[in-house]
Amino acid sequence: MTAASTAATHLIIITGTSRGLGASLTQALLKPGNRLVCVSRSRNPELERAASASGVKVAWHLQDLSQAGPSATWLGSVLDVVEETLASVTLILNAGVIDPIGPIANLREPALVQHLLTNLATPMTMSAAFLSHTERFGCPRKILAISSGAARRPVEGWSAYCASKAGLDMFVRSINAEYAQAPAERAVRAVALAPGVVDTGMQATIRNADFAQVQRFRDLKDNDQLASADDTAQRIAAYLERPDFGSTELDDIRNT
Ligand SMILES: NC(=O)c1ccc[n+]([C@@H]2O[C@H](COP(=O)([O-])OP(=O)(O)OC[C@H]3O[C@@H](n4cnc5c(N)ncnc54)[C@H](OP(=O)(O)O)[C@@H]3O)[C@@H](O)[C@H]2O)c1
Repeated sequence: MTAASTAATHLIIITGTSRGLGASLTQALLKPGNRLVCVSRSRNPELERAASASGVKVAWHLQDLSQAGPSATWLGSVLDVVEETLASVTLILNAGVIDPIGPIANLREPALVQHLLTNLATPMTMSAAFLSHTERFGCPRKILAISSGAARRPVEGWSAYCASKAGLDMFVRSINAEYAQAPAERAVRAVALAPGVVDTGMQATIRNADFAQVQRFRDLKDNDQLASADDTAQRIAAYLERPDFGSTELDDIRNT
């Protein structure tokens, strides 16, 4: 390895790393040259052991990402103490919730607001903190928002989720529009990527819910047709490294 290749680190912040796709993404990104900042409300001791064994530097943070203001303040403070030279800095907005599921007429403020804070407001405030606190690094910057097919076509009973993920898609497009003319040292590339139907706790929640298309999701599980979180994470990790990252701002891992 040359001195140059060891000099700069790829810093990657990942939200929602305690389980599901986020845990698998963390595992997939345990590669030399990466430094990870992982955040969720709970810990995953097995993943922490795997990270320690890998030798990759990982910081584990416990933060409730339904709190949009504190989450942004937290991210800013994490970025402000980074001293090393960075080859790139990436924010992966993976944390998300599916509930509340059910008829729109049953939507009530507490569950809806909690949902929108977690899936949309906090990704927005964290992106803002990321953009303002990473400019000093002068390195390539990427934002990857984990979106959903449900952002792009309605699913009966998922109005909160469809709306929050559609909002996330448009937010990603807004970032790209705002930074389209930015000079190289301020440039940002953002993608909203749908991961397919992945075998995680969120899918278990979906199978246990009551909505029109629920049988389709039960059948996918029964027929072993769900993508594994590990395979999906490997594909997303490869996607992040593509030289044309950002050229398709709304993408689906199943198209790659
Ligand atoms: N699974 C699928 O089929 C599928 C399909 C399309 C899109 N997606 C998207 O993929 C992403 C990951 O989903 P998943 O299937 O892996 O879900 P999951 O198994 O339910 O895991 C969700 C993760 O988000 C974290 N999280 C949720 N609320 C949080 C909060 N308030 N504060 C901090 N962390 C929070 C959870 O950590 P804690 O509970 O420990 O905080 C957990 O690590 C989501 O954005 C989801 O919408 C999933």
